Amino acid sequence: MNYQDFFRLDGQVALVVGAGSGIGQAAAEALAAHGALVIAADLKEEAAKETVSAIVADGGKAEALAMDLQNGALVKTAVSGIVSRHGRLDIAVSTPSVNVRKQILDYTDEEFDKVINLNLKGTFHLLAEAGRVMAERGSGSLIAFSSIRSLVVEPGQGVYAATKAGTVQLMRALAAELGPKGVRANAVAPGVIDTPLTAPIKNQPGWYSAYANKSVFGRWGKPEEVAGAVVYLASKASSYVTGTVLFVDGGWTAVDGRFTPPL
Ligand SMILES: NC(=O)c1ccc[n+]([C@@H]2O[C@H](COP(=O)([O-])OP(=O)(O)OC[C@H]3O[C@@H](n4cnc5c(N)ncnc54)[C@H](O)[C@@H]3O)[C@@H](O)[C@H]2O)c1
Repeated sequence: MNYQDFFRLDGQVALVVGAGSGIGQAAAEALAAHGALVIAADLKEEAAKETVSAIVADGGKAEALAMDLQNGALVKTAVSGIVSRHGRLDIAVSTPSVNVRKQILDYTDEEFDKVINLNLKGTFHLLAEAGRVMAERGSGSLIAFSSIRSLVVEPGQGVYAATKAGTVQLMRALAAELGPKGVRANAVAPGVIDTPLTAPIKNQPGWYSAYANKSVFGRWGKPEEVAGAVVYLASKASSYVTGTVLFVDGGWTAVDGRFTPPL
């Protein structure tokens, strides 16, 4: 057994949606560094192109793709285009999400739809199309982004949290449905990571430090600290792992943290 090759992805094609920013960008760079050809897709094509430039500058292989995860027909065309250009799709990673922080009683229908339509329905679009082509080929790894909010909440996170719990259940169902066809499906659940998504919190010192102190490390995570989880779930190193949730949360969900008793 050559364990050193367990994480290598040479010859594999990876589609990363949301590759223009934050965790998706780090995941795209990490997958390329392990040998995959990365299709860096984002609503913001320019941002996807910047990720591609960074990958190519590091000696990796990547191409940019404009994609709106909310448009199911476009996602289908994009996935079939990748298969016709490259002959395969081995890894699909879905990261885009949005949050409207409001108490449930104050939510409008429009706000509810906005969060559900990207986080849950958009994720579904990618997983279904990528899952279909992977099942036809008999192999592949689907990776979606959940959150600590799939387990623990705070006021104002209700709808976002529901989408993140829903994403976990989508992955479990996909694991059950596609496992016999050689396709694995897993979720990554980050804690608080320093990205443009969380920038508004970073700008508020009390909120920023409260979140930092909830981690046992006393700090926020960095996007590159989540990328390893994606490489693991994409690679042969996780060949017997499916239907699971990998928390990358600095101990957030493991430790109560409200009080340290005198010892
Ligand atoms: N950052 C955190 O602290 C944190 C914590 C827990 C979970 N997560 C989850 O991790 C994932 C990534 O978060 P992030 O912080 O990297 O986000 P981010 O906002 O930095 O990046 C999201 C990317 O998705 C793209 N995008 C938005 N709408 C799109 C669409 N319709 N189609 C295609 N692309 C679209 C954006 O242009 C952006 O490049 C999300 O699912 C988020 O819920 C993040």
